[in-house]
Amino acid sequence: YMKRRKCWSRYPPGPVSLPFIGTILQIDYHNPHVSFTQLSKKYGNIYSLQNFWTNVVVLNGFKAVKEALVNKSEDFADRPFFPAYRHLGYGEYNQGLVMAQYGQVWKEQRRFTLCILRDFGMGKKSLAQLVTEEAGYLCSVFSSNEGQSFDPHYLINNAVSNVICFLTFGTRFDYEDQKFQSLLHLLEQSMQEEAGLLPQVLNSLPFLTHIPGIMPKVFRHQKEFMDYIAEIVNAHKETWYPSSKQNITEAFLEEIEKKKDENSCFNYQNLTLMIGDLFAAGTETTTTTLRWGLLYMILYPDVQSKVQEEIDAVIGRNRSVSLEDQENMPYTRAVIHEIQRFGDIVPAGIPHKTYRDTEVEGFFIPKGTTIMTNLSSVLKDEAMWENPHRFWPEHFLDANGQFVKREAFIPFSAGRRICLGEQLAKMELFLFFTSLLQHFTFHIAEDHPKPREDGCFAFTLVPHPYYIKAVSR
Ligand code: HEM
Repeated sequence: YMKRRKCWSRYPPGPVSLPFIGTILQIDYHNPHVSFTQLSKKYGNIYSLQNFWTNVVVLNGFKAVKEALVNKSEDFADRPFFPAYRHLGYGEYNQGLVMAQYGQVWKEQRRFTLCILRDFGMGKKSLAQLVTEEAGYLCSVFSSNEGQSFDPHYLINNAVSNVICFLTFGTRFDYEDQKFQSLLHLLEQSMQEEAGLLPQVLNSLPFLTHIPGIMPKVFRHQKEFMDYIAEIVNAHKETWYPSSKQNITEAFLEEIEKKKDENSCFNYQNLTLMIGDLFAAGTETTTTTLRWGLLYMILYPDVQSKVQEEIDAVIGRNRSVSLEDQENMPYTRAVIHEIQRFGDIVPAGIPHKTYRDTEVEGFFIPKGTTIMTNLSSVLKDEAMWENPHRFWPEHFLDANGQFVKREAFIPFSAGRRICLGEQLAKMELFLFFTSLLQHFTFHIAEDHPKPREDGCFAFTLVPHPYYIKAVSR
């Protein structure tokens, strides 16, 4: 195992590391970003922890995170290997995308997936139309709940997932489809399995993963989720006729046929992992952002009315929303950006690993160190934002009410591992959010407890369940 940290000069400082367990008790793994920020008050923006034998460095605040992810992008582009993934089918040539080691396999998968997403219309009109259509279905089901209090969570989740379903399988699922609903529940439960201390312990002490029965128990839902995805992928494999390239699965199948190489990342197991990754990375995050969005609209009704005024002026009540409208809607854009900033959806980022020896702000960080990027501390950096701890859309507006970009706005992270779906996510957020507010005004459901503004950590930071009332405009 790795050297203990005392051996390096200029290694970042950190809390005292106890024998065997290291600093594991310093972090509340149900709220890691909060612990990270608290520790930065004592040890500075760059400090070290130790998970058993694994060296971890935490980067806080815009300056440190930018230096690492943007200026030294490749040095920080690797991912730690979690032995827990082995039981989901990870191996040398099948690592999916999100947790793939930095190298040829990742590069090839990332390039392929980006190309294919662009071919199928990421950022294009055709896909925008599809999202707008889905937003239409969502509005109709909201209409059928009109006047009653309801929890919009699973309806939004289904609508958002349908976009990924369309891209990966060429189909959408009806909101009443019980089987699909159960897949969405499984996905949510598998995210929750990542939170807490136990997964940390298992990932740091690989020998524990050999205890019979422990992996299926702790990561039960992740396995079920992957089995389910494998089932859908297999069904496609059976009915696919070569050279048809209607969706990502078919494009991948064609690549497998073309290569016919055992030592290639284009294999069936990796297809399943890749599709699983697109679901996991692409649906929960976007759903959660929209849930925060509706929550802020009922908590800040003045902001809601101003968005609606802009919608009425630019789009009107009847025409469908289109992507080009964004140009003329600085306030709505600012609100969506502020939802992402203040909602802080992936607060602790996804773990990175150093690809070679490197430094940040003069601190030495050796190759193979696990790096946590505290994205929350950037989105709420007191040196970068006027009102970091308030929902304030004016962060993204200049004195003339025009939209302005902010450099500390990195909800999708930055550098080589920046979110692959950023463009797709932005398109979905604008089209869903604007369509909903074009058709409805949302209110607090008086017959339910007042919604809470704090979140619940399960890899993503999600709102506590809340009820709303939708009134047609
Ligand atoms: C990675 C955020 C939507 C696919 C990430 C990362 C973040 C993130 C913070 C980690 C980057 C890093 O390692 O530093 C978000 C947010 C979204 C969103 C906030 C929605 C509002 C999507 C969508 C897709 C997607 C719709 C699907 C196409 C991915 C993939 C990665 C990733 C594949 C891994 C990239 C890699 O390791 O090379 N995302 N994401 N994301 N995201 Fe997203």
